[in-house]
Amino acid sequence: MVVEYAIKRIAELRTEINYHNYRYHALDAPEISDSQFDILFKELCTLENHYPNLITVDSPTQRVGIEPIQGFIEAAHTIPMLSLGNAFSDDELMAWHQRTKTLVEGKDFDMVCELKFDGLAVSITYQDGIMVRAATRGNGIVGEDITGNLKTIRSIPLRLLGNVTGQFEVRGEVLFPKSRFSKLNEERIAAGLPTYSNPRNTAAGSVRQLDPRITADRKLDVFIYGIGHSDPPMPKTHWETLAYLGDLGFKINRHNRLAKSPEDAIHYYKSWIDNLDELDYECDGVVVKINPFDLQRHMGTVGREPRWAIAYKFPATRSVTRLNKIMINVGRTGSMNPFAVLEPVDVGGATVSQATLHNEDYIRSKDLREGDWVIIERAGEVIPQVVSVIESKRTGNERAFEMPSNCPGCETSLIRPEGETMTYCFNTTCPAQLVRHVEHFVARESMDIEGLGIRQVTVLLQEQLIGDVADLYTLNRDNLLKLDGMGDKSVSNLLDAIQDSKRRPLPRVITALGIEHVGYEVSEILARNFNTINILMEATAEELTAIPSIGTKIASSIIAYFENQSNSHVIMKLQQAGVRMQSDEPTELQRPTLSGLRFVVTGRLVHFSRSQVEGKIKNAGGRVSSSVSKQTDYLVAGSDAGSKLIEAEQLGITIIDEDRLLDLLNNQPTDPF
Ligand code: IVH
Repeated sequence: MVVEYAIKRIAELRTEINYHNYRYHALDAPEISDSQFDILFKELCTLENHYPNLITVDSPTQRVGIEPIQGFIEAAHTIPMLSLGNAFSDDELMAWHQRTKTLVEGKDFDMVCELKFDGLAVSITYQDGIMVRAATRGNGIVGEDITGNLKTIRSIPLRLLGNVTGQFEVRGEVLFPKSRFSKLNEERIAAGLPTYSNPRNTAAGSVRQLDPRITADRKLDVFIYGIGHSDPPMPKTHWETLAYLGDLGFKINRHNRLAKSPEDAIHYYKSWIDNLDELDYECDGVVVKINPFDLQRHMGTVGREPRWAIAYKFPATRSVTRLNKIMINVGRTGSMNPFAVLEPVDVGGATVSQATLHNEDYIRSKDLREGDWVIIERAGEVIPQVVSVIESKRTGNERAFEMPSNCPGCETSLIRPEGETMTYCFNTTCPAQLVRHVEHFVARESMDIEGLGIRQVTVLLQEQLIGDVADLYTLNRDNLLKLDGMGDKSVSNLLDAIQDSKRRPLPRVITALGIEHVGYEVSEILARNFNTINILMEATAEELTAIPSIGTKIASSIIAYFENQSNSHVIMKLQQAGVRMQSDEPTELQRPTLSGLRFVVTGRLVHFSRSQVEGKIKNAGGRVSSSVSKQTDYLVAGSDAGSKLIEAEQLGITIIDEDRLLDLLNNQPTDPF
């Protein structure tokens, strides 16, 4: 490498890193993803390692963070709050382990694997067991005093359980739970306020509120993952320390695990990659720590990072790209749903080319314009979101968004009812609405007809093989065989799936109708109260609103739906086609149904194929998912069940075999076989 190049590149990288450090730490408004930042930082480290004489005291590699912002009292850390080195691949983790082994001269050691929480690092100090100070990390040496604010977090003990004399400091991460975050944003949209971009920044903003009542309102959470300064002697290992901290009343993450080998640590990492959405907090990687403290001390710290720990980062979930166009999707209820057409970009391993924009107000609140550079986020399996626009990249050629005045599907004039955020096309025969309506009818939560996606539905409508959802039940084999890509087998499968769907429980049928504001939960309530579609169709507003949890909005939507002649005509056709439109009569023998229970089926079964078993569970009102999570109620395990069985055991999920499942199903009022 030529020295001149290194000098130039190092200067560029420092300017860029300093700028992004400032955006991230001082303003809480990052413009690039953490992993994009990490890549820049890594490049600088590599160059400086190569040319140590180019290192200067003001290089970002030589300090932990940046100076604290004004407004709070400074709080110095007795022991600096460090950062973590990163690994981005199995090889890098293995290399770190290998280096560690060399450093400890071949001694045996185990490790602790923890989730790397994406929140705000804090230090909390206790004097004789009473909380006396809480501080942010700041620049690692001096942070800000946020004692009053952290006292509002209920998972932080104000007095320790147990006798701890002298000074005792713990460290952990303050988080904004994802569920509370989306609720907060929903409330803000409803109140016409701009939304917050992500839980991490909102958590950071919340602990820096001057008024602790605002912090208290946000209901933040915390996980404690280690100790700082401690007067009393500590256990000999990190693992024992975590248990000790738990005993003292701290919130310790329940997913912490011991690892004997680097392979165990990699296995832990892999087990999370596709399951992050089951956590109610954001994580950006896994932290692997050497367990024995004597070895940690022996290994020490280099620069800002301890050698005894490493963060194995998950693939990025945020990226920057261009918003090329804002387009409109017509929803099944006629709502105009704007979405962003993006320059395709990799976000956490998936290529994203579209993101939802919710409604006109959302676009205005973020001031999104066609041609803008934007930050995209994808959390777990959730639909990608546009977090914010990068105003500094504007050229002046960006185009502001205007909601069209006519429906893109049928040209009917659009209406935005007073007080509503959505704009609607009220033409009930709008073809664009019909596609969405059929798509909703066949969806998993509704009639669950496998093999019918948006593409097939569009073809069926275009070829006029169906005119409404009921026509699905009279589709004929010869017509389907004429369609592109439909062979004998796929047609048979589709027709079987359609036949099978006729026996879905009533709540699913009601969900499938697509009545506005009537999702699965409300449908279940309606099914329980009215038992048949015919009775429900005749229900009055008084009868409906007499049911707890059914308000006037839902009631008037139900009444309007059934008053519409074309809707009642479709229901009649569905009944004639043999779709079950009533609840099962309760019998004395009836045990609780499988309604609402979640199953995962794995391994080789004896009596039935896996899809047959899944069909039976669905017919009995249960739900089937493909992966195990803490929401799973039962894992049905056949022979040779692999990783799902292990995961279920770890999560303490009830594991049953095929025979036990058949017992459960046979207790259904109608025999599903
Ligand atoms: S240990 C010396 N454990 O990651 C290392 N840190 O880059 C001390 N973090 O700001 C940190 N989850 O707030 C540790 N389970 C975990 C963590 C964790 C998140 C954060 C920490 C720090 C950053 C280090």
